[in-house]
Amino acid sequence: MGDVSSFPVARLRRLRRTAALRDLVRETTLSLDDLVFPLFVAPEALPNDRLPALRRHTVEGVVRECEELVRLGVKSVILFGIPEDKDEEGSGAWIADGIVQQALRALRPRFEELLLLTDVCLCEYTSHGHCGVIADGEVDNDASLELIARTAVSHVEAGADVVCPSDMMDGRVAAIREQLPSTPIVAYSAKYASAFYGPFRDVAGSAPAFGDRRGYQMDPGNVREALRECRLDVDEGADVLMVKPALPYLDVVRAVRERFDLPLAAYSVSGEYAMLKAAAAAGDLDERAVALESLTSIRRAGADVIVTYWAKELAGWL
Ligand code: PBG
Repeated sequence: MGDVSSFPVARLRRLRRTAALRDLVRETTLSLDDLVFPLFVAPEALPNDRLPALRRHTVEGVVRECEELVRLGVKSVILFGIPEDKDEEGSGAWIADGIVQQALRALRPRFEELLLLTDVCLCEYTSHGHCGVIADGEVDNDASLELIARTAVSHVEAGADVVCPSDMMDGRVAAIREQLPSTPIVAYSAKYASAFYGPFRDVAGSAPAFGDRRGYQMDPGNVREALRECRLDVDEGADVLMVKPALPYLDVVRAVRERFDLPLAAYSVSGEYAMLKAAAAAGDLDERAVALESLTSIRRAGADVIVTYWAKELAGWL
């Protein structure tokens, strides 16, 4: 191979000497174009001093927040809802005046250019906190599909650009695709039953009331199964695949990148954010540096898009 030489001819430090040289040859970069910022909408606001991005906004608050985000250059947000009331079926997820639908109706006319994604799931809306409906003490896959598709349709009717099913029911991408032939679907294809979702569940109030999510989210030990999940979502009509969490699953990001040509997203979850925030608050790590390094690593592993709680701060840093 013509480009192989060895020391002393080869000196890799030659291209590391100045910032301009390093910038010139950097293989992986971060851009606000590729970042999605999560926003939580609720009947009442709930600030969060320690983890500022994990806060609840009212509908009016989310409009103000988006004004700021657009000003900073953030281009995409993903909305999560915390409803006034929860019930067995999670009806707050799909009713026309649900909290996410209200937020979409307020945002859509004001921010034509802001990309509005929505998380499609029932767990924030069900009284039991599971991602589907319960029958005989278990989450009933097929009975949940219709409700999940109904939720996606109501989001699009209220102004969503992109829907992101995160429930991990089998067949949910097909169920949504059948109802919404022209809406982009970002499928949480390889979503693991992870303990890194803790801070999210605190803000969303979506911890399961009994049992856990291991009967539908993926086992952390598996990567071949992640590829099967992705294959099914491709066949069912997904436009973008997603791996979640991100940092502890970079090998999965890489494996999916190598196998599939679809755009790939990675969700850098609340626990990843909380870990670095805590270490920074303790004075052990430089938050800006470790956040940039983590997000770069997720991109280097193969993600095109990153959902991250740092998107807003990053807008100031980049
Ligand atoms: C909804 C959903 C969850 C997250 C995103 N969508 C919680 C869960 O599955 O328990 C987690 C995001 C995060 O931790 O940042 N099902």
